[in-house]
Amino acid sequence: MKITYPERLRLANLPTPIQPMERLASAFEGPNIWIKRDDFSGIGLSGNKIRKLEFLLADAVNKQADVVITCGGIQSNHARATAVAAAKLGMHSHVVLRGSNTSARDGNLLIDLLVDADTTYVTPEQYEDNLNVMAGIAEEYAQNGKKAIVIPEGGSTSLGAWGYVAALEETLGQLKQDKIDIDIMLCAVGSGGTYAGLLLGAVMLDVNFEIWGVNVCDDAQYFNTIVNDIAADFRKKFTPDLQWKQEKLKIIDGFVGKGYGLSSVDEINVIKQVAQLEGILLDPVYTGKTMYAFKELIRRGEIPAGKNVLFWHTGGVFGLFPKRDLFF
Ligand SMILES: Cc1ncc(COP(=O)(O)O)c(C=O)c1O
Repeated sequence: MKITYPERLRLANLPTPIQPMERLASAFEGPNIWIKRDDFSGIGLSGNKIRKLEFLLADAVNKQADVVITCGGIQSNHARATAVAAAKLGMHSHVVLRGSNTSARDGNLLIDLLVDADTTYVTPEQYEDNLNVMAGIAEEYAQNGKKAIVIPEGGSTSLGAWGYVAALEETLGQLKQDKIDIDIMLCAVGSGGTYAGLLLGAVMLDVNFEIWGVNVCDDAQYFNTIVNDIAADFRKKFTPDLQWKQEKLKIIDGFVGKGYGLSSVDEINVIKQVAQLEGILLDPVYTGKTMYAFKELIRRGEIPAGKNVLFWHTGGVFGLFPKRDLFF
């Protein structure tokens, strides 16, 4: 199917490479492993969010926004990527962060401040109402004659999902060229947009491998609903003829561990193992948990030897620094 994309800015360094992980595959004693390096999508911009932002910020530019407002945890990769991209586009950014203004100026928060994002710190309870909090901030900007647009948490809207439709198309071209026939793609699921985009792309491009998402918070039921909702909105707004295949959805539950943003010793050890065997830096909140899930699925025999697996490195390296004390 020839895909017609909505308007898009070119902010990321694309295509990101696909690399074999032979030393890790040998240590895991299971499938052949490749890694898609979306951590290479840019420096300050790095990770999966910039792919969504190429579409979301094209919309902001069209609407002649002066300010971009978004939200996330205190170490949100999405908030940081949005703030950096806004700076690059000459827009102001304002991030609503779940946490306190006494938090260490470290990791992603350091970068938010470096690019001069305005910050509003909220409690977890206030954060639950983040859309209204952001709407209130947008209203204040409007009263001062500034046009602000709100990007919901994680950029996980139907427009943002286009970023991972495009990422899948890019990847299929690379796999074809390198003659790699994969059986399973694996990615982290935090707010659902990356996974939803990959699955929408898989339906549009009629791929025959499986795409598994490992939820790093909440549970499979929660994300089944989120992904189906994003897909429904996507079809309504962009592709009414697309036959959504709900049965393709596969959220691998059971690896939230100690909770969102909290790391177990096993997760930290996998991050060390990947760094030491491959020179690749995973993050503690998303890709580290997902790599631990992958290792466990192999150990349990759920991904047998001989299978070809592509692991999405969706970025997040700045999240390592505030967690330094867990590593030694
Ligand atoms: C590094 C990283 N990987 C994966 C994810 C998950 O992506 P999504 O929010 O689209 O589910 C996020 C954000 O939540 C992230 O920051």
